Amino acid sequence: MERLGGLAHAAAKLARGAPWGSPQSALEPAGADAERIASLFPILFGGAAIIWLVVMGLTAYAVVLRDRKHERNRTRRWVVGGGALATTVLLLLLLVRGLAAMPELLDPGPQDGPRIRVSGEQWWWRVRYELPGGASFDLANELWLPRGRRTPILLESPDVIHSFWVPSLGGKIDVIPGRVNRMALQPTRTGTFTGICAEYCGLSHARMLFHVVVVEPPAFEAWLAAQRADARAPTGVLADRGQVLFQQHGCGACHTVRGTAARGVVGPDLTHVGGRVSVAAGTLANDVVGFEQWLARTEALKPGVHMPSFHMLSNEERNALATWLEGLQ
Ligand code: CUA
Repeated sequence: MERLGGLAHAAAKLARGAPWGSPQSALEPAGADAERIASLFPILFGGAAIIWLVVMGLTAYAVVLRDRKHERNRTRRWVVGGGALATTVLLLLLLVRGLAAMPELLDPGPQDGPRIRVSGEQWWWRVRYELPGGASFDLANELWLPRGRRTPILLESPDVIHSFWVPSLGGKIDVIPGRVNRMALQPTRTGTFTGICAEYCGLSHARMLFHVVVVEPPAFEAWLAAQRADARAPTGVLADRGQVLFQQHGCGACHTVRGTAARGVVGPDLTHVGGRVSVAAGTLANDVVGFEQWLARTEALKPGVHMPSFHMLSNEERNALATWLEGLQ
């Protein structure tokens, strides 16, 4: 079914005259690992297509062209040779071809550069950059990677099983409580790619998207420096009022905004939240309206989420709070 879906997707894009540029397609690889996996597609699909054609041909022969009783010995030869032997050999060949790609996919990447620790939460992704020398910083639902370099990623979960998958960049890997899984990504093209949770993990499983922004190495270094820095709080009457509301309503008990008194670790780190691609793990656009909607309808937008909605705030208060959050670039 997945193959058919992929084909339908590719056919639809060809029909639109835009075969490339999807942010989330295993058939349009933008990473070394995704390229290896995509190279298996024509072999596996071609093999399956040939087997299907041969079986259909034999069926037509048996049913339409020669519908008399078949000789017992010849029938047995077809069943044993075609049904058991040929199938086993063909599937073995395909398996060997697939396994041959494994060692490169398992390459953990250099251990002396930055590495990323990703944790699957309900329902968002905690992302920690661990830098050489021991420094680290947190963000959420977003990874930045330098093009051309292999970056190690460690994956863990505090409660249920998730699965971390950026189809354009690499393979899928489960995120399992009680163990640390390892992978690495090595993007070959710059751009913004979408990642998803590929394992049903509860009510809002479909609401834990994330984005991977691939940039050239100098831009990546600049981004690292900017992320490590404390929040540059926006100024202005509205934003100031927003910051006061953030403190008054206890948001800092769950969220961290580095450079302020907010040090909570339950929810996403909001230090540079206004600079991210989306709000609430791909649920809303990252603008003032997006933050307002999130604050007003949290539970409706993401059923089962730990954060309560702040519908008790007036529209003006929500606007002030959203203005401050959006300004945390
Ligand atoms: Cu996390 Cu599905």
